[in-house]
Amino acid sequence: MQLVMQKEGLLKKDTDFVLISGTSNPSLHEEIARLSGKPLFPTEIVRFPDGEIRVSFKEVIEAKKAVILQSLGRQPNEYLVETFLIGDALRRAGVTHIGLIAPYLAYSRQSLQEGNGTSLASRLFAYFLHEAGIQEMRTLDLHAEHIPSFYDFPVHHFSALEVLVEAFLKQYASDNLVVVGPDLGSAKLVGRYAEKLNRDFALVEKRRIDARNVLNLSIVGEVEGKDVLLADDMCSTAGTLASAAQLCREKGAKRIFAAVTHGLFVERALELIEKSPIEHLFVTNSVPLDDSVTQCAKISCVSCAPLLV
Ligand code: R5P
Repeated sequence: MQLVMQKEGLLKKDTDFVLISGTSNPSLHEEIARLSGKPLFPTEIVRFPDGEIRVSFKEVIEAKKAVILQSLGRQPNEYLVETFLIGDALRRAGVTHIGLIAPYLAYSRQSLQEGNGTSLASRLFAYFLHEAGIQEMRTLDLHAEHIPSFYDFPVHHFSALEVLVEAFLKQYASDNLVVVGPDLGSAKLVGRYAEKLNRDFALVEKRRIDARNVLNLSIVGEVEGKDVLLADDMCSTAGTLASAAQLCREKGAKRIFAAVTHGLFVERALELIEKSPIEHLFVTNSVPLDDSVTQCAKISCVSCAPLLV
């Protein structure tokens, strides 16, 4: 197996590879290209009036190694199909190795079989990516640690907590901080935040009522009289963060901050964050962020590009 993306570090500076940008996150892809010192390879991705997609390359790519840049958020189905087609076009063009940098991997929340007759999307898309010719992947803060085991090729799984913690510490100081996971599933990630910050952690016991609403039952751990840093892999509707922040406030927390790797910010997410007791939220650009997010005074955006090159 040829590895273009090294396990510990960078896209090998001495390796002759080309970067292919999908259409999901142009500014992040350009930043990755700049940091890795490689231009984006001329690629045409056409959308037909009926929604079909066609991929072709404008120059000869045969015998090279290729790395696809594609964040699979916001319109996951669209960008997944685009990625399959880029992989297929690369293989048919005769490249020798195909890597994928997917800062956000869609469908990560569907990685457990919940009863008979339920789709297991995370596993199925691992298979499709393999079938589309992908041989290696780099990604950030997967929703569940077991997801790489679905893949029949190396998955290099990194965390954005370093850059988020650094941004948080630059702006805020607290000698009384506790890291809080907004649900029990965040325990591993929150444990890493707590270790990095050398603080204790607590966990909210969350019950999801439906895709948009959650119910917080209690907090395992102590937040009374403390400043809180809520840490999670993603914020989608912001129901989880907002209700966890509210519970922390009711339990006597003082200042409340949040750090999330993937900011999907769908539906009324910004409104919920604005109204919540969260004083400031730190998020990466693993998913493209709208102006409404980047201009929100409560939100700081931190680039994850250095973690991906
Ligand atoms: C769920 O377990 C995830 O870690 C997030 O907490 C969740 O997906 C966030 O979704 P929302 O913002 O819609 O509550």
